[in-house]
Amino acid sequence: MDRHNWRGFPASQQPDYPDPDAVRRVAQQLGSVPPLVFDDECERLKRRMAAVSRGEALVLQGGDCAETFDGVSAESVHRKMSTLMQMAAVLTYAASLPVVKIGRLAGQYAKPRSKPTETRDGVTLPTYRGDAVNGFGFDAESRVPDPERLLRMYQASSNTLNAVRAFTSRGHASLRQVHAWNRDFIAGSPSKAQYGGIAAGIERALHFMRATGASPQDFDDSEFFVSHEGLLLDYESPLTRQDPRTGRSYATSGHMLWIGERTRQLDGAHVEYFSRISNPIGVKLGPSTTPDDALRLIDRLDPEREPGRLTFVVRLGVDKVGEVLPGLVEKVTASGAPVAWVCDPMHGNTVEAPSGHKTRRFDDILGEVRGFFEVHRSLGTHAGGIHVELTGDDVTECVGGGHDLGLPDLFERYLFERYESTCDPRLNRSQSLDLAFLIADFLHEEHMALGGLAG
Ligand code: PEP
Ligand code: CO
Repeated sequence: MDRHNWRGFPASQQPDYPDPDAVRRVAQQLGSVPPLVFDDECERLKRRMAAVSRGEALVLQGGDCAETFDGVSAESVHRKMSTLMQMAAVLTYAASLPVVKIGRLAGQYAKPRSKPTETRDGVTLPTYRGDAVNGFGFDAESRVPDPERLLRMYQASSNTLNAVRAFTSRGHASLRQVHAWNRDFIAGSPSKAQYGGIAAGIERALHFMRATGASPQDFDDSEFFVSHEGLLLDYESPLTRQDPRTGRSYATSGHMLWIGERTRQLDGAHVEYFSRISNPIGVKLGPSTTPDDALRLIDRLDPEREPGRLTFVVRLGVDKVGEVLPGLVEKVTASGAPVAWVCDPMHGNTVEAPSGHKTRRFDDILGEVRGFFEVHRSLGTHAGGIHVELTGDDVTECVGGGHDLGLPDLFERYLFERYESTCDPRLNRSQSLDLAFLIADFLHEEHMALGGLAG
């Protein structure tokens, strides 16, 4: 069948399983489990992303760099979701646009790595590739890729999605509730004074909505989608299902899947697999991407030019965004392809702390987002939103932000207690909200300058 065609193409970043028969057995089991998400939900997200591509909505995508099997608890999922919802409420108000919320959740268990091995104190072992592949522990046994983990990935994704669906169906996510959380955040923030104006504006918007019964553009506040990098084809392929009514195939492991920067080769297995599924999809674009690469990806992945189908998630780095992004956006826009543009301000801004930990500076993250919005404003195109690595917990992985978590703090005071990511450093809860309020600051100014009515 079509969806297995990828096997004829080179697949990068796949685990080196010692027992191929075991992989086949697992794939067989995954072929008969219930789908995690459904076609109509994927199509709904595609319509939302089409609105983003037309400039009628923003998207906020975020969650862990790497979810872990142990990390699945209803509380931690809800903390991530409430952080995203709080950010979305702030952005909705600032841009006067609805915000499509997508978690990096319920499937983000596999990681592409730049090096196949890791060496510590003279011992070299295969690198950790995410809980879906091998164990984080630095011992030979943990690091052997185990296909049974793909079944655990399905189970963990299912548990997480259950928590997501419970949270959205219980009215926790009403805009009023979310704003009450934002009020609490502002009360404890050193940037109280700066954020007060935005909070007051949201308050007025809520009063208006209560009085008129209108929510912004009839958008469902509690709507929440899930996404992950579609890295492991031995997992994605058996979970792909064909809709007998339409003949279209969907990855049923998540609403949106994306292709990572390291697996977007035009003649590679990932692009081939993604070309056969009908979900809304993303492709990460790093600083070496040329405008022609982008056009060729569009031809391969969205030959019909279907609105909402394709999102480019650009991750260029604060120093490169102003240089590389204009050429990409200009050429793609001139081609008429209806892509959505999203800024990932994380993966181009990773630095090593003196302690050896990977970290990111809050100001670089904010700077790349600002650069992204400026490029789009100057070209008259729509900056579609942001894609961030965050958690609802008070970790100390990125430096800076309202509470000014500095480098010395990171490696001296908190390091071993609160550096919890098994992969890239995430924004903690207050850094995430700071980011939303600071983006809101410049979006709101822009909006007012354009004669908008909000505020
Ligand atoms: C990621 O999103 O965690 C990631 C690995 O990103 P990229 O493919 O852009 O490097
Ligand atoms: Co990451």
